[in-house]
Amino acid sequence: MKKKLLSIVLAMAVSATFIAGCGSTAASTEAPAPAAAEEAAPAPAAEAAEETADVAADAADVADAAADAASGDVAGKKVGVCIYQFNDNFMTLFRTELESYLKEIGFTDITIVDGANDQATQSGQIDNFIADGVDVLIINPVNSSSAATITDKVVGAGIPLVYINREPDEAEEKRWQDNGWDVTYVGCDARQSGTMQGEIIADLGLDAIDFNGNGKVDYIMIEGDPENVDAQYRTEFSVKALQDAGLEVNELDDQVGMWDTTKGQELVANSLAQNGNEIEVVFCNNDAMALGALESIKAAGRTVGKDIYLVGVDALTEVVEDVIDGSITGTVFNDHIAQSHSAADAAANFVTGKGNDYYIGCDYVKVTKDNAQSILDSLK
Ligand code: BGC
Repeated sequence: MKKKLLSIVLAMAVSATFIAGCGSTAASTEAPAPAAAEEAAPAPAAEAAEETADVAADAADVADAAADAASGDVAGKKVGVCIYQFNDNFMTLFRTELESYLKEIGFTDITIVDGANDQATQSGQIDNFIADGVDVLIINPVNSSSAATITDKVVGAGIPLVYINREPDEAEEKRWQDNGWDVTYVGCDARQSGTMQGEIIADLGLDAIDFNGNGKVDYIMIEGDPENVDAQYRTEFSVKALQDAGLEVNELDDQVGMWDTTKGQELVANSLAQNGNEIEVVFCNNDAMALGALESIKAAGRTVGKDIYLVGVDALTEVVEDVIDGSITGTVFNDHIAQSHSAADAAANFVTGKGNDYYIGCDYVKVTKDNAQSILDSLK
């Protein structure tokens, strides 16, 4: 509950929001409209009030879930959790919070397995959970493109399913609705995170960005797993936000770092060796890769904020500390607390027969030097 309150403080402290807030019953029944991340900047006061109301509704949902737990509705129910890979900084935060919150709302039989970034391994784990007769599954797919196969298998076995973090495509989500299946997706709209990354850079102004004086924003892009919609959208929408702000862009390099720190470090080192001082901005689809990028930036004798800029997504503690001391320009908070709580609440709603909407959303939060300390304080 403490963390939930912290997330309320966080949400109120930061006004930059886009679409409706987090929480199972507050969510839209539809996937977000494609234009969601393109909308005009919100009016801060109205947004903050709306968000406060959303978060208050969310807190009420949590109280309901806790009350159900107290009445024994979820105790003894078996929940199986498939994580695409334990060796992922963000998913480790998510998984840890998910486990503790599942316990908090009363689940006592929780099994969490590591898909080791291999779909065949994960599919075997799902088969085992089905054979074991779990009451509900929470799945972070290795490949989102395998979702239809996974859904058929799980729904065929009569087990409700909560997808997390890696969003299946629109056609797949439509199938759940068309067939009235007990399947939902919990996650944030990655377009929003990409837009916020681009805005963090655009807000610096061309004069501050254009070290080489060519009148353009010269950037490199370090992508996560390209199979993953988070990587696709962050890549697209970060650049789009620069263009929407009237800036001319020049892509010097675009590489796939698979969400990984070491790969991020290697790719940025190579790119700096090739493109040298021409690189003005390094976009990383996540913070793990931004941490690797930072090492290479330092090794190349460059200084963030002085002759180059660097942005990530997730708001890992280390990165937020770097934003505070200026060694990373900014990041975007990927709210693992709200997402894991919504996923657990959705699982509880399924096993208690309440059901869920088909899409359960959540907002990202922009993190710059201005609010990084309060974000950090809230996360601790
Ligand atoms: C996070 C990444 C993470 C990925 C895993 C993304 O939303 O930003 O850090 O590696 O999810 O699927």
